[in-house]
Amino acid sequence: MNKVRQADLGTPASNDANTVDVEIDGLPATVQAGTSILRAARESGVDIPKLCATDSLKPFGSCRMCLVEIEGRKGYPASCTTPVEAGMKIRTQTAALGKLRRNVMELYISDHPLDCLTCSANGDCELQDIAGVVGLREVRYGFDGENHLEADIDSSNPYFQFDASKCIVCSRCVRACDEVQGTLALTIEGRGFNSKVSAGISEDFLSSECVSCGACVQACPTATLMDKSIVEHGQPDHSVKTTCAYCGVGCSFVAEMKGDQVVRMTPDNDGQANHGHSCVKGRFAWGYSTHRDRVLNPMLRDSTDEAWREVSWDEAISYTARRFKEIQKEHGRKAIGGITSSRCTNEEVFVVQKLVRAAMGNNNVDTCARVCHSPTGFGLNKTLGTSAGTQPFDSVMDADVMMVIGANPTEGHPVFASQMKRRLRQGAKLIVVDPRRIGLVKSPHIRAEHHLPLLPGTNVPVINALAHVILSEGLADEEYVSSRCDTDSFESWKQMILKPENSPEAVEKVSGVPAEEIRGAARLYGTAKRGAIYYGLGVTEHSQGSTMVMGMANLAMATGNLGFSGCGVNPLRGQNNVQGSCDMGSFPHELPGYRPVQNDEVRGTFERHWGVTLDAEPGLRIPNMFDEACAGNYKGMYIQGEDVAQSDPDTKHVEAALSNMDCLVVQDLFLNETAKFAHVFLPGTSFLEKDGTFINAERRINRVRPVMKPRQGKSEWRITQDLAQAMGYPMNYNNAAEIMDEIAELTPTFRNVSFKFLDEVGSVQWPCNDAAPMGTPIMHVDNFVRGKGLFVETDYVPTEERTNRKFPLLLTTGRILSQYNVGAQTRRTPNMVWYNEDLLEVHPHDAETRGIKDGQLVSLRSRKGDITLKATITTRVQPGVVYTTFHNPETGANVVTTEHSDWATSCPEYKVTAVQIAPATHRSQWQHEFDARAEEQSKLAETP
Ligand code: SF4
Ligand code: SF4
Ligand code: SF4
Ligand code: FES
Repeated sequence: MNKVRQADLGTPASNDANTVDVEIDGLPATVQAGTSILRAARESGVDIPKLCATDSLKPFGSCRMCLVEIEGRKGYPASCTTPVEAGMKIRTQTAALGKLRRNVMELYISDHPLDCLTCSANGDCELQDIAGVVGLREVRYGFDGENHLEADIDSSNPYFQFDASKCIVCSRCVRACDEVQGTLALTIEGRGFNSKVSAGISEDFLSSECVSCGACVQACPTATLMDKSIVEHGQPDHSVKTTCAYCGVGCSFVAEMKGDQVVRMTPDNDGQANHGHSCVKGRFAWGYSTHRDRVLNPMLRDSTDEAWREVSWDEAISYTARRFKEIQKEHGRKAIGGITSSRCTNEEVFVVQKLVRAAMGNNNVDTCARVCHSPTGFGLNKTLGTSAGTQPFDSVMDADVMMVIGANPTEGHPVFASQMKRRLRQGAKLIVVDPRRIGLVKSPHIRAEHHLPLLPGTNVPVINALAHVILSEGLADEEYVSSRCDTDSFESWKQMILKPENSPEAVEKVSGVPAEEIRGAARLYGTAKRGAIYYGLGVTEHSQGSTMVMGMANLAMATGNLGFSGCGVNPLRGQNNVQGSCDMGSFPHELPGYRPVQNDEVRGTFERHWGVTLDAEPGLRIPNMFDEACAGNYKGMYIQGEDVAQSDPDTKHVEAALSNMDCLVVQDLFLNETAKFAHVFLPGTSFLEKDGTFINAERRINRVRPVMKPRQGKSEWRITQDLAQAMGYPMNYNNAAEIMDEIAELTPTFRNVSFKFLDEVGSVQWPCNDAAPMGTPIMHVDNFVRGKGLFVETDYVPTEERTNRKFPLLLTTGRILSQYNVGAQTRRTPNMVWYNEDLLEVHPHDAETRGIKDGQLVSLRSRKGDITLKATITTRVQPGVVYTTFHNPETGANVVTTEHSDWATSCPEYKVTAVQIAPATHRSQWQHEFDARAEEQSKLAETP
């Protein structure tokens, strides 16, 4: 049985490389200089009692439980706040210390309920443990005096409760909120006996600034802050390490189990991406895996107006294989294909692209990264030579200046945002380039030096203007450029950048960003010793997404900001395995490892291994699949864990394409929007049932371990394998580890990766091969992967999506902390308490001129269609820009988005849509149709 409680060494590790020798209770110990006595003792196996200290927080020295004696010193110093010194002789257990500790404990216990046997923390309470350790036998002060035993319980948060009667005011929660999470939602109110923990100004947790990350709950040594799941189910009896399946941070977790039931997800202190921290989604929002909506049996229907029929796995697989083969016979080999999901493991994705290539005989495989980060792969590969980010997350702790472009880390990548905030509180400077005033622009103890609130669609002129200032003011790193980059390309790029149209003054007219702000930001980034760029979908989801990615790489090369810690060009990936699904070759033109299908040698390697002849012609990208489906040429599709009907742009076109399919197969947890058009439904598995790997935004390969058996009876890779076999291709893996072995054998950057290796080392960042046996945290250290860094000219070509009198506003989209993408999972959790419908942010000026009131229903109309949603009036958006999220299918945010896309990769231009808004009295036509279809499908699903 795995241990559940993680080790706590009392205070954070020291960064000092030197060591000192000390003596603890008569035994010699060698520890890092700067280590606290408390930690030094614990590292040496001596547990000094403690209450207010924990190794995720700076020592505080308030509880007086960790007192020690030091030879030659008077008194009893607190070991948590006293660092070791060479030659120190420390005694941790003496009669005097024992008495002092018992006295302190007596005081705590005299104001603490003695309900240990019925307390939810029984067996996992530090107060209880320490009372035992110090040998508390009586409480002389009695329980009759003034006390807090009748204090109220705050149960407002859906996931944890606050029982003030059990609080020992150790302040660990307050410090966790400040130091680990960076939200500063908690304070200690009052003094002395009246001190108490308070969320906001005497608010309950739900109404306060709290973002429900759970760091305070984890830090609390008593049952004061306690997970409701533990209160309900009791303490766990074993645990399994795994990886969060939400965002691209890829936090490691310890799934704490009771039998086969998860009772708590605790972030893993050893997790290299998260170092023991998490956000509300990873820690708490896992209940969807057992939600009643989950489909656990395969289902079929010949036509979408028929009721679903539950069938055996054998029948579902053989039906699908037969239909796919019939379609190929009638419409040709290329009339079918598949879409892989960045929510799935590498192993699951790998077998789907193999199924398409080896069993279907074409390259019609694409992944949802097409609609998010495909420009990242293209742009970074072209300029630097690798389709991936350059740094580990920890690199941010060395950054002097961070430039965040088109990303909203506190909502989208919250654990990394906490790390960024930590660095910012240490003094690093921040530039935010975003149409909206995102949370990082101003939050407790943080203020961006520059916020460039550009108009959606003007990233490229702004990055060019930043480069213009850097080049024209002599801030480029000429030596770096001449030694590491292609100087001819630099010269051409320089000539382009120095044109007058790229000056800040000219760009101000296009982007709306004051020239002085652009100059200030450029000078700050250009003079930084270590400048790091972080970016998100606000960069990629544009008609010039790839151009912008190259623009950022140009800027980083020109300023010498690649190849060491604290710098780089870093995509913040949306979904948990975007990097992996791309690495696994789920692109119509690339085999695993980004190798072109047209290359005979590359294809030959896979052909020999897979025993088939592979198609040399690239297949269809997702948008082309839809076009071909509408044209009647693409008739069958296997969709793994994607809800294209909700997530892809121009919904009406997507729906028309899906309606035209002869055999649409959806593999998912729930009957999603796409399933309304499906003929076969193959139930999928949640991350808690998966065995495999995810790759996060820093190229880190993390293990995903099953904590329970697949609830629908079959691993997802096995479903795909069965389908391949039924179609006549012999795919014969016995387990997921064998799939990774094949990936490693066929992909040079994964050569040394295996489950066994990952289980030994925890996680590793690719490339991981003989040249880098322990992986590669920082890319492009001495040379760029492509040799010399290539500057690419980035002329601005405005999007065809223009505002006019009919559509005078620009709509841009994004997401919020508590919900996740199309919301399929988070909408089936108590996270709905924070955000249960998509809202339209409107600037007060735009609202007033249209007579729109806060909370009012408005129509949002574009050239593509119209929807209705409620307005929220806020200055977070600038005049002329409106903003919404896309978490709820009934909103239909993508009904209004357009067919425009990135010139290089076809990534849709989600971030720029010309719209008009007006007060509305009733829901749109599309929404009425949506409701009718939902009702019809739910009736069909209920039919026996
Ligand atoms: S709530 Fe817990 S962590 Fe916070 S002060 Fe009270 S006992 Fe300490
Ligand atoms: S849950 Fe997180 S944000 Fe909320 S009070 Fe606790 S530490 Fe702060
Ligand atoms: S930051 Fe991302 S990976 Fe980490 S817990 Fe939250 S959703 Fe999961
Ligand atoms: S643990 Fe050292 S004073 Fe509390």
